[in-house]
Amino acid sequence: MATATSPNSLLLQNPNRSTTIHLRKNSNPARVNVFNLSPSRRNKSISITCSTTQVERPPSNAQSLDRVFNFAAGPATLPENMLKKAESELYNWRGSGMSVMEMSHRGKEFLSIIQKAESDLRALLNIPEEYAVLFLQGGATSQFAAIPLNLCKRDDPVDYVVTGSWGDKAFKEAQKFCKPSVIWSGKSEKYTKIPSFDGLEQNPDAKYLHICANETIHGVEFKDYPTPKNNDRLLIADMSSNFCSKPVDVSKFGLIYAGAQKNVGPSGVTIVIVRKDLIGNAQEITPIMFDYKIHVENNSLYNTPPCYGIYMCGLVFEDLLAQGGLKEVEKKNIKKAQILYDAIDESNGFYRCPVEKSVRSLMNVPFTLEKSDLEAEFVKEAAKEKMVQLKGHRSVGGMRASIYNAMPLAGVEKLVAFMKDFQARHA
Ligand SMILES: Cc1ncc(COP(=O)(O)O)c(C=O)c1O
Repeated sequence: MATATSPNSLLLQNPNRSTTIHLRKNSNPARVNVFNLSPSRRNKSISITCSTTQVERPPSNAQSLDRVFNFAAGPATLPENMLKKAESELYNWRGSGMSVMEMSHRGKEFLSIIQKAESDLRALLNIPEEYAVLFLQGGATSQFAAIPLNLCKRDDPVDYVVTGSWGDKAFKEAQKFCKPSVIWSGKSEKYTKIPSFDGLEQNPDAKYLHICANETIHGVEFKDYPTPKNNDRLLIADMSSNFCSKPVDVSKFGLIYAGAQKNVGPSGVTIVIVRKDLIGNAQEITPIMFDYKIHVENNSLYNTPPCYGIYMCGLVFEDLLAQGGLKEVEKKNIKKAQILYDAIDESNGFYRCPVEKSVRSLMNVPFTLEKSDLEAEFVKEAAKEKMVQLKGHRSVGGMRASIYNAMPLAGVEKLVAFMKDFQARHA
């Protein structure tokens, strides 16, 4: 017997047993077998075909009752509509009879997934033909080593601008594989600034200039990019925490890399966009898994890639395109960040953001409380209101709200309303 329980679901009851099945409107075309019937009845299993409908985007002011607003720095919140789409395709991907997790990475189904992910990312970022796009593993941390291993020889000088902890880690790892210099560091000012480009003394013999486009822990973001003055004019950027949050002119870079787990997918996928003419000169000691040439020649399928993660990134790219592309995404991100920074700046010092205004991150908003002993209470009370992961990174303390692409405006509005209420009660 079938009964509609809501516009989105159907309740099926087996009149002979207490078996019920909930079918949701967005389920994939699939046969649904009732395995919990007695063995004698299994061959009479109920089989139903549902048609697929587009998974709808929840309104930006919506919060599902069973979800929190997750302000984590990464892994981070993902678009709800794409999580639901993944859920509907989890068991049987588009009639293939298997989950993406069970597919051969060399089969036609997965090839179609990775190829579409790449072409959607190319469309989103307008990536020129002369750049390769790689879906790798090992996190952005692996790229700290892979970049010098692929782009320099052991004695080559390279320049690093260090605007926070991630840039510092990249520099320290590079010391093992080339001769890096820190040409500017924001450490003495607690990483609250980006340098003026005119004053940057770059080494003309440096193989590349490395920056971290957005420092996730400190909340400083490059709003524009320095022109490399090295002979090869090579600029390299770690874009882990602002990847696909706004348009970027890829042609200004030799290489861009990003861990997926902030803006574009689950952890386990690392995206590298590299100019093809830079490939093929890796140092002899380069492990095969770090050699870009191997991955380019094999279209990221030299070994088993993080298939499910790549599939999820593909769904997110689809979603970003459906939103109108990165210009539209950027507008939403500016609006969310503005609301939050305004609330901090207009709190008469109750809240404080240490970062210089012109370089405040659209993605990671660090702030402190004037009465620092209230910070733990702030985090605790916010969690009770279903706003989680607001504690600042252990190295800097305070609070941090990460408001990546998938954080709805409603999440930021709710946080701001909570901040005002908290201030009224504790000022
Ligand atoms: C800017 C930046 N770079 C690098 C990393 C390291 O990434 P992974 O943990 O993927 O190696 C992170 C992680 O948070 C980051 O935010």
